[in-house]
Amino acid sequence: MSVRNLGVASLLGLACISFSSAAEKPPTDPPDAGLARIEALIARMTPQEKAGQLSLYGPADTNIPNNPQAGWRNGQQETADVRAGRITGLFNNAGLEGKLRLQQIAVRESRLGIPLIFGADVIHGFRTMFPMPLAEVSSWEPALAERTARAAAVEATADGFRWTLAPMVDIARDARWGRGLEGVGEDVYLARQFAAARVRGFQGSHLSNADSMLATPKHFAAYGAAEGGLDYNPSEVSERTLREVYLPPFRAAIDAGALSVMSAFNEIGGIPSTANPALLTGVLRDEWKFKGFVVSDYTADEELVEHGYAANPREAAKQAFMAGTDVSMQSGLYMRYLPDLVATGEVPMARLDEAVRRVLWVKYKLGLFDNPLRGLDGPPAAARAENPEFIALARESARRSIVMLKNERMLLPLPKAGTKIALIGPFAEGTTDLLGAWSLFPGQTAPVGIDQGLRAALGTHSSLTIVRGSNVESPLPGGIDAAVAAARDADVVLLAIGESEKMSGEARSRSDIGMPQAQQDLAEAVAATGKPVVVLLSNGRAMALKGAVRNARAILVTWFLGVQTGNAIADVVFGDFNPSGRLPVSFPQTAGQVPYYYAHKRTGRPTPEGAPGTLFKTRYLDATNEALYPFGFGIGYAPVRYDNVELSQDRMTLSDTLRVRATVTNTGQREAEEVVQLYTAQRAASVTRPVRELKGFKKVRIAPGASTVVEFTLTAADLQFIGRDMKPTVEPGEFDLWVAPSAASGIRRHFVLTRD
Ligand code: NOJ
Repeated sequence: MSVRNLGVASLLGLACISFSSAAEKPPTDPPDAGLARIEALIARMTPQEKAGQLSLYGPADTNIPNNPQAGWRNGQQETADVRAGRITGLFNNAGLEGKLRLQQIAVRESRLGIPLIFGADVIHGFRTMFPMPLAEVSSWEPALAERTARAAAVEATADGFRWTLAPMVDIARDARWGRGLEGVGEDVYLARQFAAARVRGFQGSHLSNADSMLATPKHFAAYGAAEGGLDYNPSEVSERTLREVYLPPFRAAIDAGALSVMSAFNEIGGIPSTANPALLTGVLRDEWKFKGFVVSDYTADEELVEHGYAANPREAAKQAFMAGTDVSMQSGLYMRYLPDLVATGEVPMARLDEAVRRVLWVKYKLGLFDNPLRGLDGPPAAARAENPEFIALARESARRSIVMLKNERMLLPLPKAGTKIALIGPFAEGTTDLLGAWSLFPGQTAPVGIDQGLRAALGTHSSLTIVRGSNVESPLPGGIDAAVAAARDADVVLLAIGESEKMSGEARSRSDIGMPQAQQDLAEAVAATGKPVVVLLSNGRAMALKGAVRNARAILVTWFLGVQTGNAIADVVFGDFNPSGRLPVSFPQTAGQVPYYYAHKRTGRPTPEGAPGTLFKTRYLDATNEALYPFGFGIGYAPVRYDNVELSQDRMTLSDTLRVRATVTNTGQREAEEVVQLYTAQRAASVTRPVRELKGFKKVRIAPGASTVVEFTLTAADLQFIGRDMKPTVEPGEFDLWVAPSAASGIRRHFVLTRD
């Protein structure tokens, strides 16, 4: 280990970084002959073949969408590399035919016959595109995410992919960052549930099943903490924040069985994650006992040179590999340099064998050794699109992802008959901007646009006028006049505005998270007609809403909802579905408040409750500290009331279980679906604690006029935090607790935790 690496290790409180010996082989379930087979193979492999097992590429002759063109290779080279054992697998190479051909070459013509692994960015669907991952977190139903991940795996494995470069489990608290939409929101607890659910969904009941995909929690680590919300930027996080906030979703994904992890592009405290031994070996291997392999992000090893961390590509390969990045994506650096690095003794052969062993073991667990051609010689996968079961699931998931923020004087739901509706905005018509980033593969199920969904719901009642009014980021000549005329002639306006799908995703950070000016102007003009306005917000992030958008009578957050966007929106607008989504990210009052998240620290000068203007307190001169719409917030068509919050005891010991009960009553006329949330905050501890932290939630259905009792349990383990020694700890003390409909409300109680 270099002196530099030692420095990192001690920064993270990790004394030693080691690589395991052959004696510490990964366990299998059940113990089997596979390990012996792997060892026998390793014994026969040349250093070049070993490096080949650690080299992954995108498809030849293809400009891979969603990635820069780097390390681009032609088909001849690709075939030759497969034949020579210089490739472990390919990613995003859609189509069965090509995969079958290459796999046959790998197993029949390469010297050792080691099968390839085919991976893909299956992020929120394959043929049937589901809501973007963050949208789906709004459902607060991890089981739903498990089902959509399962469906995606069924479709992607039918195209020969057995490995997904997902789920993204990066906590994101800065709405400027473009990739928040691919992830799990701002909260650690919620993120952990979704991370684990998606891994279970992708991997299925057993990794060797023909329709199971190896899951890859990414991007390890703290990629979502990019400074200024700027993609690829350094993440300035303390070790405590890293351990308390950014690492737990990865841990949850690994505990759920994920056997590959992707290292991130970013640096933390001067050390690029792809070459950070304290993270990749210290945390992953030594602490968490992770048995799978680590794959770099796309050319992330090569980028160590641009980071100014490695002097040249050879050094970059060495740094990344020795830190614990087992597989190199796209750069080709491992193939180019590892054999020589081993020959010179700069990289021990044992480390090379260790990485190869991990990769072969995972291939073995996927059943690739036993059945390398399985799934590759079936009917063309395109024939399997338009699966009615998955389309129904897409509609269910989409409508459960919609969050209603506002519904003044019960404007919604609209009656289907007798209402003249003007549907206005750049997203009113058509099938672009429905799916969001990572909708890469051919043969997708056709999406349903907003206009189509509304028309289908209205049927013969239809009185729908559609006007674009504005482009996404520029005015449309005559657009506002036409929109105003349509609004004047209508009873109600549905204003489909917001961000296009190109405005979020990788490398799509925004410095201003507001509505593009052209659309703001459109909203102002339409609002000036005095007609009631429902905003249908298309968005890939929390946005700062202002003026006519903020003041609209009703607001529905509709994100990018996937193939069933139009139908799902119609379901909610006309009341066939009662919106039940809750925000997985806070919506700030103004763009200048970001990064904004509810679980912030108090400071020594918190703003006094009820006196937000007090000077010498933690506050802006021009905005309060409250969110416009807080994390956890969302309303449905039936109002609910919380009361009778009772604790089983007001003192608990470290070994006790505290039971918390609350009565939730539906005071409306329709069935309610309510997400009842449990938060706690420790008043004083040896390390300061956030003002609130989510500790549990339950989604319950309540009949009109009925009440339900919701019960939570809390143990000391739920009250853990990272102590001064950087280890999880629980400290006796006083706690506040809330049972709440959002992070900024609820009924408060108090309890004391004692040692015994
Ligand atoms: C870069 C992205 O950061 C990562 O998430 C993705 O899996 C790779 N490109 C491969 O497409």
